[in-house]
Amino acid sequence: MTVHFIGAGPGAPDLLTLRGRDLIAACPVCLYAGSLVPEAVLAHCPEGTRIINTASMDLDAIIAEVQNAHTAGKDIARLHSGDLSVWSAMGEQLRRLKALDIPFTVTPGVPSFAAAAAALGAELTLPGVAQSVVLTRTPGRASSMPASETLQNFAATGATLAIHLSIGNVAQVVLDLTPAYGADCPVAVIYRASWSDERIQRATLETVEQVLDPDIKRTALILVGPALEASDFAESCLYAADYDRRYRPQSAESPWVGWSHGDD
Ligand SMILES: C[S@@+](CC[C@H](N)C(=O)[O-])C[C@H]1O[C@@H](n2cnc3c(N)ncnc32)[C@H](O)[C@@H]1O
Repeated sequence: MTVHFIGAGPGAPDLLTLRGRDLIAACPVCLYAGSLVPEAVLAHCPEGTRIINTASMDLDAIIAEVQNAHTAGKDIARLHSGDLSVWSAMGEQLRRLKALDIPFTVTPGVPSFAAAAAALGAELTLPGVAQSVVLTRTPGRASSMPASETLQNFAATGATLAIHLSIGNVAQVVLDLTPAYGADCPVAVIYRASWSDERIQRATLETVEQVLDPDIKRTALILVGPALEASDFAESCLYAADYDRRYRPQSAESPWVGWSHGDD
C-alpha cells in the first residue's frame, strides 16, 4: 500500500501530468484538497473509488483515513493544488507517514506561478533584467513569516516576485515594495490562472489598489517586477549565432568538439 501525493495543477483539468492522471486512475481511495483542486480531475478516479474532500478535515482525521486504507491494503491518491513543493501541507503529512512507516511517492504538478506567467505570456527571468523568481507570501492569520523573509528584503534583490496567499494584503505589498522597485514598477494580479474564469489585472505599484477588482478576494497571485513589462532586454546567449556551446561548437578549437551526451 502506498500514498501517492500528486500535484493536481493550477486549475485547468488538462494541466495534470500524465503520471498524476495514471496514478489517480489506479487508486481505490482519493483524498483531495477540495478548496482548490478542480473536481474535473476526479473524473480519472476508477468507479467505486472512495473519494474524500479533506477541506474540512484536520490532520488527525486525514491520517486516520490513510491508516484505514493502509490496513485494508488500498493505495491512496492524495491530491493538492498546483505543485506539492510550496504551500501544500505535504510536509506535515509526510512526517506522520514516515513515523507510521507508510510508503509514499510524490508526483509534481504545474504550480500556480507558472500558470500565471503563462496567462501573461511572460518570461519571468529576462537577461539583464531579472534572473531570479521569489515565490513568497505575506503573513496570514495562521502563518507568520520568518523574520528575514520580508518583502523589503526580497525587493532589495530586484527579482521578480510571485506573491501568493496575499490578495487581501495588497496595500501592505505596495508599501513594502515601492521604496525599492519604484511606483511605476509593473504589477500583474492573476485570478484563478488557467480556470475558465481566469482574470488578469495589470497595473503598477502606484495604481494596483485602484485597478484591482474588490471582488477578487482569493486564489490570486500578485506578480511584481520590471521583467513583467520589459522589452529592452538582451538576448540570451543560448541561441546567439556566435556563442560557443556544447550543442553548437564554433570552431575546431572549441572545447566542445568531440563532446557527446555520455560526457554530461
Ligand atoms: C495554498 S497555496 C497553494 C499553492 C500551490 N501549491 C501552487 O503550487 O501554486 C494557494 C495560493 O496559491 C495561489 N494560487 C493557487 N492556484 C492559483 C491559480 N489558479 N491562480 C492564481 N493563483 C493561484 C494563490 O495565491 C493562492 O492563495
